[in-house]
Amino acid sequence: MIEVLPNQLFEEIPFVENPVYEQIIRDIGLKQYSIIDNFFSSETVSHLRQSLLNKHEEDRFKKAAIGNRINEKIIKSIRGDHILWIDETTSNLAEDLFFGQINDLISYLNKTCFMGILYKEFHYALYPKGTFYKRHLDTFQNDDRRKLSFVCYLNSEDWKPENGGELVLYLDDNGVETKKEIYPFPGRIVIFESQILEHEVKPVETERLSITGWLKTR
Ligand code: OGA
Ligand code: MN
Repeated sequence: MIEVLPNQLFEEIPFVENPVYEQIIRDIGLKQYSIIDNFFSSETVSHLRQSLLNKHEEDRFKKAAIGNRINEKIIKSIRGDHILWIDETTSNLAEDLFFGQINDLISYLNKTCFMGILYKEFHYALYPKGTFYKRHLDTFQNDDRRKLSFVCYLNSEDWKPENGGELVLYLDDNGVETKKEIYPFPGRIVIFESQILEHEVKPVETERLSITGWLKTR
């Protein structure tokens, strides 16, 4: 027996242009990165910050690694953040809000610019006072599936430039290297081309909170 599907399933869903997503696409096309303030509402940011802090309190974070054969001292001289991968299948309410927006963005990118994003991975990151992440490229682990790097800052509302922890993007301006310094203000996201842009996180004076992730192709 053939099941008859309700009519509305066949109706075209009208395409609605999203100005924020359009800006991201335009920015990345022009300069390989995009910075969007208030991508996440302050309520969402505060739920995510609380979720990060709770999990950190439960001692679930690990010191970030770089490869397998490098010892801990060397790792510490390269990066000092603590991370926890986020599992979408067991996500809490805050993470549902996060993935809701991320999945919406991914389907927009795939629909409008055929980006072919098939996979994603995200982790919480906490940089204790005094830590940093030296200049690097996000595709160093023989993983060229990482297409777009994504960072979202979860610092408190009173975050000040003096707290340090700027993200520095190294850009190529017609053969001349230039730097773009970005403060980790809460709710701000930065998206950039993983395979092209080298970047670093400057030493932090105050604990710095974020979610970092990658949108990947096959
Ligand atoms: C990373 C990274 C940037 C940031 O985790 O690979 O470069 O601003 N993070 O936290
Ligand atoms: Mn990086």
